[in-house]
Amino acid sequence: MASQTLNAILVVGPTGSIGKVLCQSLISRKSEFKRIAFFNDTSRPETEEKRALFDTFRNGGMEQVSGQYKDTEPFVGFDCVLMPLGNHAIKFQPTIIDSAITAGVRHFYTSEWGADLSVGSNWTQRYYRDKVFTREHLEKRGHDTDTPDLGWTYIQLGRLTEWSIIKHFGIDNTNYVANIYGTPEGRQSLLPTKDAVAYTMKTLKHPFSTANNGHRRTYRFHGSSPTWNEIFNDLEAITGHKYTVTYHDVETAVEKEARAKRLNDVELELEASHQLIQGRGGTLLPEPFDNALFPDIHPEPVHSVFERVFKDPETRKFIGAP
Ligand SMILES: NC(=O)c1ccc[n+]([C@@H]2O[C@H](COP(=O)([O-])OP(=O)(O)OC[C@H]3O[C@@H](n4cnc5c(N)ncnc54)[C@H](OP(=O)(O)O)[C@@H]3O)[C@@H](O)[C@H]2O)c1
Repeated sequence: MASQTLNAILVVGPTGSIGKVLCQSLISRKSEFKRIAFFNDTSRPETEEKRALFDTFRNGGMEQVSGQYKDTEPFVGFDCVLMPLGNHAIKFQPTIIDSAITAGVRHFYTSEWGADLSVGSNWTQRYYRDKVFTREHLEKRGHDTDTPDLGWTYIQLGRLTEWSIIKHFGIDNTNYVANIYGTPEGRQSLLPTKDAVAYTMKTLKHPFSTANNGHRRTYRFHGSSPTWNEIFNDLEAITGHKYTVTYHDVETAVEKEARAKRLNDVELELEASHQLIQGRGGTLLPEPFDNALFPDIHPEPVHSVFERVFKDPETRKFIGAP
């Protein structure tokens, strides 16, 4: 069976934190692809910032396709759809997949770029519910007699380094206080966004065939797996401030999650679910890793990423530093 690579790429969710970097990276490698494009979801609010971003993408050589996820037309002529969608949009992926399949698309990068969903209790965690639905949907469509060539790529890495020290995950970089579910020795796997995107680009050009399910791929890219102790040592060295860290019993998040459900508070439910995932070691990436496939990428060390994040005014805002 002939091997293939992915050459006509559409990014759905181009305005998000990962989507933006994916688009910039595609632009810088434009000559390697037949078509690069981004999806303008016309059901979403238009903002000045979005218009400016789309101008930058078009000026960089990306095509803009416009419509809604249920439309078939915008997906015509692409062989691969990347879906870097945010927490509240992940549930739309089955609709996107169905429209794109009707249009002829046969490969999807779903909204992963995170933990291995098969680790520990991840598969049944609320935080990953819509990622699991999406995988199940692809499996189902992959069994359909008209789409045996349907393929997908899951990029797993643990946590993106820049996200590991934000308020959502319990760290307050204004008051140097942290509330962590787990223990000081608890580990998580961290990979910087730019390296995650660089690996993603490489996988687009990594040949595969439909023989032996070669078109249904999972890659695990590992940066490093520091403990909380090591992370706070880094933060203290960089900021020159001592962090007051309280470690909470992970299982207390079970009650918090149940309360959030009763209150119908989705944000709180996601937060509690995430505390269970992280505290139980769910963001620690299991071996084997696939870094050796692309030896020219050398993931930036955690300390260096944190230093960079604290220096740049934009990223300082993102991590809540004054
Ligand atoms: N492992 C980690 O630490 C980590 C960290 C960050 C992200 N990720 C993963 O990377 C992927 C992308 O995340 P992200 O942080 O880049 O996403 P994001 O910035 O929150 O959102 C990305 C896109 O989702 C769209 N969107 C947001 N809310 C929507 C809604 N209610 N309805 C329709 N569209 C909506 C936005 O479109 P509009 O422009 O139209 O608003 C935006 O283009 C996810 O799979 C996420 O889990 C992983």
